[in-house]
Amino acid sequence: SETLKAAAAPRYFGAALGVPHLLNFTHDPLFDTDAVLQFSGATPENEMKWAYIEPERNVFNFTGGDIVAAFSEANNYVLRGHNLVWYNELAPWVETLTGEDLWNATVNHITTVMTHYKESFNLYCWDVVNEAFNDDGTYRENVWYTQLGSDYVPNAYAVARSVNAPLKLYINDYNTEGINNKSDALLALVQSMKAQDLVDGVGFQCHFIVGELPTDLEENFARFVAAGVEIAVTELDIRMNLPPSEADIVQQAKDYATVMNACTAQGAACVGVTTWGITDLYSWVPSTFPGTGYALLFDDNYVPKSAYNSTIYAL
Ligand code: XIL
Repeated sequence: SETLKAAAAPRYFGAALGVPHLLNFTHDPLFDTDAVLQFSGATPENEMKWAYIEPERNVFNFTGGDIVAAFSEANNYVLRGHNLVWYNELAPWVETLTGEDLWNATVNHITTVMTHYKESFNLYCWDVVNEAFNDDGTYRENVWYTQLGSDYVPNAYAVARSVNAPLKLYINDYNTEGINNKSDALLALVQSMKAQDLVDGVGFQCHFIVGELPTDLEENFARFVAAGVEIAVTELDIRMNLPPSEADIVQQAKDYATVMNACTAQGAACVGVTTWGITDLYSWVPSTFPGTGYALLFDDNYVPKSAYNSTIYAL
């Protein structure tokens, strides 16, 4: 029988997995028998973020990340490391640091986390810097930019490269899926870092609203591929107002297909697609964007949607 992963091959088809959900899932026969087999990739939804993995300075807690990594190994999933440097879900102590002290803590974080997961045989890449830009294309004024200037970005990649040279290093962001000021800025940075062999891939999050996809998705992906990097759809979901209307359900199926087509149009340079969860039951969407949901490929009861069929057909 057809699965997302079979349709996507040789690309991976991944999902964000969180430990709270994984622990439920192991007691959930629907998940065990069907959902796991649909996928060939995983991104830890929160477990490898700074606030959880280094909550106090130089005190590391790999428990959650290790659970997702072990689950990924057991199921032969491609694992995306997510993420090393991000302003959100950042341990509060980091934001109190200044200058060289902040940089030393950042080097220690990147080095320790990447070293810990270096032996995970299915680890494919790391999102080194996540969400570096504002929508207008200026740098987001996070603690690193404020303290160290924009060089913190290439410098973080240089550290990551020195820890694990063969691993793919990604930069990941949202609202960069179409051609706009933000994706222009990202592209310029990627071109500069690629010339220094600091970056290998660009992740397009793709947290979309039904019927509102950028019309130049494929064209935008193509200009990044032309810069010599690979790309991936890293956090796909397509939300709608609740309760879902028939029209939105139909549109969602078209929109998922549009994203798949924009990926496959890049040939081997688009290496995989990850949806930000498996079932709507555990999606971040309803709590983050109140009044909306129904954003993933499986509903609250793991029943595949029209969008599931259109996704398989498009891949
Ligand atoms: C989200 C998680 O899904 C939530 O559980 C958490 O509360 C906040 O972060 N961009 C990213 C992801 O790169 O890490 C975010 O994940 C969603 C937006």
